[in-house]
Amino acid sequence: MAAFKRIVILTGAGLSAESGLATFRDKDGIWSKYDISEVATPEAFARDPAKVHDFYNQRRRGLRLAAPNTAHLALARLEREFPGQVTIVTQNIDPLHEAAGSQRLIHMHGELLKALCAHCDARHPWHDDLSTEVACPSCGRAGGMRPDVVWFGEMPYRMDEIYDLLAQADLFASIGTSGTVYPAAGFVREALTAGAHTVELNLEPSEGTSLFAEKIHGPATQVVPQWVERLLANAR
Ligand code: APR
Repeated sequence: MAAFKRIVILTGAGLSAESGLATFRDKDGIWSKYDISEVATPEAFARDPAKVHDFYNQRRRGLRLAAPNTAHLALARLEREFPGQVTIVTQNIDPLHEAAGSQRLIHMHGELLKALCAHCDARHPWHDDLSTEVACPSCGRAGGMRPDVVWFGEMPYRMDEIYDLLAQADLFASIGTSGTVYPAAGFVREALTAGAHTVELNLEPSEGTSLFAEKIHGPATQVVPQWVERLLANAR
């Protein structure tokens, strides 16, 4: 294993699956129960905000019972102990990376424990249910508060920073993601162009598995701590 200096780690719903949070596209996943066009687009919110709020309110309540698992904890340890730079770019809107202690973290799809006002663009930490009655703590207007998550058709957050990090990475890892949603699914190509070593850690081969130089398949709570241990042992 080469001595890496700048690691970028993309994570997805599979990382939080063993913390009891449903993934999207697995059997019994969220999209097998809900229609994306009714709950996860700006058009859906304009058409029926109550239905969208209900969908995210349920997911927000579900976070109360979730705790970081050994995969989240191993990634936080990697950031602490690795002599080089480790950055996590997560598609997840749950707070489990933070709860595990990760600091260098980019929520490219937003955060469920934040609310965004469509009237004044203010963001606020938010743990309770949202509704069209809720007034924005900044501008005082109601009807515009929405979960601070990136819906289909919207631009993910901090993309310039993410592309800069990928361009300088010497190791790119993708953990617990199906590789079906862009722009995240295209990050492996960016990393390959930068000459980085690429590794996929996932329960099963993802859509983009053929692009990865190394593939490690199994439950995140098993394969991620082992992978982190090897990286740290190699960096000593
Ligand atoms: N350990 C490791 N991987 C797992 C585990 C596990 N315990 N359980 C499931 N997986 C893998 C699945 O095999 C699948 O490839 O995690 C992946 C989850 O894929 P998706 O459900 O498609 O989730 P994700 O890739 O994060 O979705 C991307 O799509 O719906 C939107 O905005 C949403 O951020 C999300 C984006």
